[in-house]
Amino acid sequence: MTTSVEMGFMRLTRREVARTWLGVALGLVWLVGCRPQPAVEEGGEAAQATVGEDLLLASTRLTLPPPGVGPADLPNPESDGAQYLRQYCTACHALPSPGSFSATGWPVYLRRMWRRMDALDPKYNVPVPTSAERVVLTRYLLDNALEVSRADLPPGQGRDLFRAECSRCHELPDPAQHSAQDWPVVVIRMREHSAQMLRRSPTQFEVQEIILYLERASRLGS
Ligand code: HEC
Ligand code: HEC
Repeated sequence: MTTSVEMGFMRLTRREVARTWLGVALGLVWLVGCRPQPAVEEGGEAAQATVGEDLLLASTRLTLPPPGVGPADLPNPESDGAQYLRQYCTACHALPSPGSFSATGWPVYLRRMWRRMDALDPKYNVPVPTSAERVVLTRYLLDNALEVSRADLPPGQGRDLFRAECSRCHELPDPAQHSAQDWPVVVIRMREHSAQMLRRSPTQFEVQEIILYLERASRLGS
């Protein structure tokens, strides 16, 4: 009895072994034939997604508010406008400075931001301001916006360079809005923004030339 059971068991095992080998062989054929293909495809897709996302992120950084603006750097930090800026405008990127754009420039960018907040899937939990809060926030940004240069820019060496380099991210600033002593700090900060925003940086020589122009132009303008 036991032998037959054992024999049966052995036979079964042998059959199973045969089946297993067939299975392994088929499995190998399947592995060689099909498996590597999806693996390559998956890898390819993953690599593509990474390169694509990398490029998307890099190109987005060209227009992202750079880090470095703290809540205390905001004009009238205790005002409702400053509070709303901190509350609603830091979900996706660094705190944007009201000086990023002129009063005529801001509305265009704000429209884009409202559209993002309104349309984004609620699962992202982005806080959305009310209409009344949007009015206060807009007024705050316009009141503290970048001061744009008049058409009659004071003449002087470096004027063309200033015009070209300092209108890449925002409108051309008014040289009169800072003193000769303050301009170097601002220009150096702008150069840092170029690096943070993955932009082409002006050379040391160009930075010097722009600073010299602004120092002279700020005295002429005031
Ligand atoms: C839902 C995410 C999100 C929120 C919330 C958001 N932003 Fe943005 N913001 C972006 C993205 C993405 C970009 C980069 C693409 C672009 O320029 O539109 C950007 C870019 C910017 C820029 C740079 C634009 C440029 O072209 O240089 C400014 C300034 C800005 N946002 C201000 C704000 C302000 C002010 C608020 C609050 C009212 C705000 N953002 C809220 C996603 C957001
Ligand atoms: C790479 C983008 C970029 C370039 C190029 C750039 N800026 Fe700016 N600028 C910014 C951003 C972002 C802000 C808002 C944040 C801040 O104030 O640092 C700003 C704000 C300003 C402000 C208002 C804030 C203040 O301190 O008065 C002035 C003035 C200004 N820029 C001057 C210049 C000058 C001058 C140049 C040329 C040397 C220049 N910018 C080039 C990005 C840029």
